[in-house]
Amino acid sequence: MSETIQETAASREGYVQLVNINKYYKDFHATKDANISIARGKLVALLGPSGSGKTTILRMIAGLEQPDSGQILIDGKVVNDVPGSDRGIGFVFQSYALFRYMTVYDNIAFGLRVKKVPEDQIRERVTELLSLISCEGLEKRFPSQLSGGQRQRVAFARALAPNPQILLLDEPFAAIDAKVRLELRTWLKDMITRLQITSIFVTHDQDEAIEVADDIIVTNQGRVEQSGSPQELYRNPATPFVAQFIGHSTQVENFDQFRHFEKTADQVTAILRPEFVSVFKIGENIQFANSAEEAVVEDIIFRGSNLEIRVLLHGNHISSARSINEPPIEIGETVHVFIYRLFVIEDGKISLVENLSLKQEPVVI
Ligand SMILES: Nc1ncnc2c1ncn2[C@@H]1O[C@H](COP(=O)(O)OP(=O)(O)OP(=O)(O)O)[C@@H](O)[C@H]1O
Ligand SMILES: [Mg+2]
Repeated sequence: MSETIQETAASREGYVQLVNINKYYKDFHATKDANISIARGKLVALLGPSGSGKTTILRMIAGLEQPDSGQILIDGKVVNDVPGSDRGIGFVFQSYALFRYMTVYDNIAFGLRVKKVPEDQIRERVTELLSLISCEGLEKRFPSQLSGGQRQRVAFARALAPNPQILLLDEPFAAIDAKVRLELRTWLKDMITRLQITSIFVTHDQDEAIEVADDIIVTNQGRVEQSGSPQELYRNPATPFVAQFIGHSTQVENFDQFRHFEKTADQVTAILRPEFVSVFKIGENIQFANSAEEAVVEDIIFRGSNLEIRVLLHGNHISSARSINEPPIEIGETVHVFIYRLFVIEDGKISLVENLSLKQEPVVI
């Protein structure tokens, strides 16, 4: 094995690296040739549907599972044979596994006691962490006497106590209600940015990943589909799966019927996002009004700062966002629809195709 060559390449590329990793559970192929590279100090989301292999990847990094082939590198060193406890990793589990019969203090102190750290140093570190997670005064409570958000912050402190170099969080907000979840997301991002600890967190919620992560790794059926910044994935999805999973997408099977779109090869399947579509009242004086086509409004959904207008166009249910400050549109109304662009799916690849009338007039959005 040419470890030295790989180690040099690895230390340049990423602090945590998975190189051609495969994992089988008996004959089930749970991780398929995964290649992942995470830079030091980044907060990275592993995003994918249930069963796509997110927890499996996290557990292999933590040394709780062994890959069947491939290498895991941390700071340029192959760690496949290094026990999990010596990899410098803190783990916050999918369901916050605090020890129910231990106080908050003892939960946070747990990892330090395993390492036989002297009690006075433990007290200092636990006090520091209680302040970091704003849970001062709660040290004598048991987990059942805490709110969901507090429990999750204690789980975070417990993972941080032994000063890990890498923090792994498996769906840390899954068991928490929507409002607290939003607060915790921001809290976690601030905390990790402040501590500059390389962190990987698992989620199947794209909004969470987009909001919190520096980079996102998208998993699907055991494969890494794409990795990149939220913007990159949003603007340039590499696969049909990513195009559908990120953003609010609709798939259409006959985009060649849309006005001013040319068929490419034999493919007529495309993905549309609400921001690719404008809906306006007939008679509204808007650029491209002459290139628009008519459709009937099927539904209108209030989305806070704007309205989602759903129309039926050539048999497809298409969504568009419209500002609440525009003249109102009603269900059943015939409107004009203009589609700026769409993602065409061709041989499993994605390409962005623009409305031909955009070539005649410059786009003003
Ligand atoms: N110990 C195991 N034995 C057999 N199959 C397993 C085992 N652990 C996971 N799997 C299977 O491997 C696949 C990936 O599981 P994994 O837990 O990594 O998915 P996940 O992306 O974390 O899903 P979720 O979002 O539901 O937590 C699933 O099909 C799962 O059933
Ligand atoms: Mg999981």
